[in-house]
Amino acid sequence: MSGSRTEFTALQRSLHWLMAICILAMLFVGVGMVSTVGRQYIPLLATHKTLGIAILALAVIRLAVRFVYGAPALPGDLPEPMKLAAHLSHLALYALMIGMPLIGWAMMSAGGYPITLYGQIRLPPILPQSDSLHTLLWNAHFYLAFAFFALVLLHIAAALFHTLVRRDGVLQTMLPVGNSDVPLKPQRNTR
Ligand code: HEM
Ligand code: HEM
Repeated sequence: MSGSRTEFTALQRSLHWLMAICILAMLFVGVGMVSTVGRQYIPLLATHKTLGIAILALAVIRLAVRFVYGAPALPGDLPEPMKLAAHLSHLALYALMIGMPLIGWAMMSAGGYPITLYGQIRLPPILPQSDSLHTLLWNAHFYLAFAFFALVLLHIAAALFHTLVRRDGVLQTMLPVGNSDVPLKPQRNTR
C-alpha cells in the first residue's frame, strides 16, 4: 500500500501534527510534573494521564489508518542505509507512541494508584499490585521518555536535512496543508 501517492492523506497529516503537539506537551508536562513539589503536581498528573491515554487511542487509530492507506515512497535516490534508518526510526516512534502510555498505565496499576482521568473516568488496573513491577516500569517510563525525546529531535533533524540539504520534497508529503501541486524530486520509487 505504498508508493502510489506523493503525500500522506489529509487524515494521516492531521493525526501526525495533532499527535506531535500532544506528545511534545506530554514530555514537558511529565518533566514539569516530577520537578514540582507544589500543589500543581495533582492537576499536572491528571492532565498527563488524560492526554497520555488520548495519545494511546490516537496512536491505535493512526496505525490502523497507516495499514489502510500506506505511505508515499521515499525518494528513489535516497541511499539504502538512510531508507532503513527512516523505516526503523518511524517504527520506534510508533512503538513509543503506544508503549509509553501503556507503561504509564501499567506502572500506576502496579503501584496500586487509581487511574482517574478528567471527568472522573476511572480506568481499570492492567497489572496486579507489585512493588518490584512498579519500580521496573517506573524506570522504563523514565528512560524511554528520554529516548522518545532524543528520537523526536533526530526525526526533526532528518526532516530539516531533507528540506534544506537534499531538497527532495519529503517534508511536503507530511505538511498540514495538501501540496499535490508542489513538484517532488523525480524517481520516488516504492519503499
Ligand atoms: C505518550 C505518552 C507519555 C509520555 C511521553 C510520558 C512522559 C513522561 C515523562 C517525560 C515523565 C517524567 C519522567 C521523569 O523525569 O521522572 C513522566 C512521568 C510520569 N508519567 Fe508519563 N508519559 C506518558 C504517558 C503516561 C500515562 C498514560 C500515564 C498514566 C496513566 C503516565 C504516568 C506517569 C506518572 C505517574 C509519572 C510520574 C512518576 C513520578 O512521579 O515519579 N504517563 N511521563
Ligand atoms: C512528537 C513529534 C513527532 C512524532 C512522534 C512524529 C512521528 C512520525 C512518524 C511515526 C512518522 C512516520 C509516518 C508513517 O510512515 O506512517 C512521521 C513522518 C514524518 N514526520 Fe514526523 N513526528 C513528529 C514531529 C515532526 C516534526 C516536528 C516534523 C517536521 C519538522 C516532522 C516531519 C515528518 C515528515 C516530513 C514525515 C514523513 C517522512 C517520510 O515519509 O519518510 N515530524 N512522523
